[in-house]
Amino acid sequence: MAKDFEQMEDSNRSANASIHEVSDPARRRLLGGGLGLGVSLGLGGLLAPLAGCSTTANGSSGPRIGFKSVPVSTADRVLVPEGYTVQVIAPWGDPVGVSGDSPAFKFDASNSAAEQEVQLGMHHDGIHFFSQDGSKSGLLVMNHEYTDDGLLHPDGMKTWNAAKVRKAQAAHGVSVVEVAQQADGRWELVRPSPWARRITANTPMQISGPAAGHALMKTAADASGRRVLGTFNNCASGITPWGTYLTCEENFINYFKGPEQPDAHQARWGMKKGDGGARWAEFDERFDAAKHPNEANRHGWVVELDPYDFSATPVKRTALGRAAHEGATVAQTRDGRAVVYMGEDARFEYIYKFVSRDKIRPGGAKANAELLDHGTLYVARFEADGRGRWLPLRHGQGPLTAAQGFADQGEVLVKSRQASDALGATKMDRPEWIAVDQQGFVYCTLTNNSNRGGANHPGVDAANPRANNTMGHIIRWKEDGDFDGERFAWNHFLLAGDPSNERAEAKGNVKGDALGCPDGLWVDGRGILWIQTDMSTSAMGKGDLKNLGNNAMLAADPLTGEVRRFLVGPAGCEITGATSTPDGRTFFINVQHPGESPSERSDPAAPSKNSNWPDFRPDGRPRSATLVIRKADGGVIGS
Ligand code: FEO
Ligand code: CA
Ligand code: CA
Repeated sequence: MAKDFEQMEDSNRSANASIHEVSDPARRRLLGGGLGLGVSLGLGGLLAPLAGCSTTANGSSGPRIGFKSVPVSTADRVLVPEGYTVQVIAPWGDPVGVSGDSPAFKFDASNSAAEQEVQLGMHHDGIHFFSQDGSKSGLLVMNHEYTDDGLLHPDGMKTWNAAKVRKAQAAHGVSVVEVAQQADGRWELVRPSPWARRITANTPMQISGPAAGHALMKTAADASGRRVLGTFNNCASGITPWGTYLTCEENFINYFKGPEQPDAHQARWGMKKGDGGARWAEFDERFDAAKHPNEANRHGWVVELDPYDFSATPVKRTALGRAAHEGATVAQTRDGRAVVYMGEDARFEYIYKFVSRDKIRPGGAKANAELLDHGTLYVARFEADGRGRWLPLRHGQGPLTAAQGFADQGEVLVKSRQASDALGATKMDRPEWIAVDQQGFVYCTLTNNSNRGGANHPGVDAANPRANNTMGHIIRWKEDGDFDGERFAWNHFLLAGDPSNERAEAKGNVKGDALGCPDGLWVDGRGILWIQTDMSTSAMGKGDLKNLGNNAMLAADPLTGEVRRFLVGPAGCEITGATSTPDGRTFFINVQHPGESPSERSDPAAPSKNSNWPDFRPDGRPRSATLVIRKADGGVIGS
């Protein structure tokens, strides 16, 4: 989600910061300056525990990046390197392909809520290609993070009614579409398709795991605390080794109307008095937290769904903890247990990992239907010496007791932020996507945090070394032993920035093309680390970001740290979500919110003022969509 730096959630007032403060002024200068230091130089002694990290020293390099960088661009089009082709599929509003119910998109935005329920949602985000016939056909499953209600309705939000709320809710969630490559190499949606499906903010879901049925999860509409309607603000996603899709509920709190005086729990989750901007509460009472205080507790989870089983109800997995979840990235221990890494995209919030109790069983989704219900959730603490530890969110252990306000494991999970505060976790600069490379390093983008080091805010620390962090950074770590290790060694893969900036802390140390605000992160089949940027529309083209143009996607060599700009998106968009066919010859990349205005609400009288991508119709409006990237010679992308 592109977020105005000043509006972005910042709710962590816990007192667990000081132990991480970097006390050595020399180190602080070194880390904070970012004076063109290489990744390894910037951390000096911190690298020592990370064997294999500084591979440039022995001259080895990673997978070949064979394309020539594309330049920075502010054009309302997609730029890719020479020799590559771009095709646009699956824009917002096109029918997903439900048999007998495929209403066409109306360019004046007059489709009804019922039509939107069978059309692709708005604001495409996390995406995965589930292969069916090798690399020739499959399902694309993708998130729709939020809506621009200025574009979603013919007159925007000028009038507001139940039908508009219903349409906005229908434009959130997840789409499942079938895609197939044609004889000419192009990809098309298969319509109708038996798998075509929409999941929205009103789709019935099941709640499982330790918080299911908890008193904090019960509402007037659901006395069981085990059934909930819908998922929304679905940002990044993940996949499991057993073939399911994980969709992650990010900044859910903004959809609620807070009471006059939010209580301590509500405030810790960012709830404020009054409506958060979506205005759903005006016509859908469950979003009024004064009337239904527990409804918000039923959101902020990771939701698991089986794209190949239409009858299976999506499940909110509470064992993975509640958070403003950016994503959920699954690794596997050598003995076959699942490890799920999760970032929480909010200023000064935390990085989590879940380790399953049981081993993954053969037999796909059905055989692993409860795998994510049992295990241990941990939160990360990064020490100043380049080591770190995972602190278990285990009821009865340390401060997580009834006497300290945690009645049971369910309450620990619903209040995972408070539990992490009590454990002394490290407050991070907006942890976004997480990816695991072929050497076993785990990377997390920390997109930005302009409040770092500000008045009444935590100062810099070793892991978050820059005050007024407008550019963001990428941290990485390697677990001791296996992915379930409780200790790890970490360093910074890069500090994002632009060397042409005057402000030393905004120069960064990127070896290659400049970038700002890393967000999306994905490792392809060859081991290339792909970085996608989300400079918010309120900050793009100004200040420290003035020379960086539109949001972009860059390739990085995990071994050498070399970075090259691969793709630049159209005006006002964010590039987010990446997946490929198994042969690596087709990439599917999402373009979110082309033409977004700094307020995130377009002017309905001038919908194409900032962008008219991808249709460029005089009567049109910008639409989020999926890019199909191929090489003209049919080769492997990036090679
Ligand atoms: Fe939804 Fe954190 O971007
Ligand atoms: Ca973001
Ligand atoms: Ca994101």
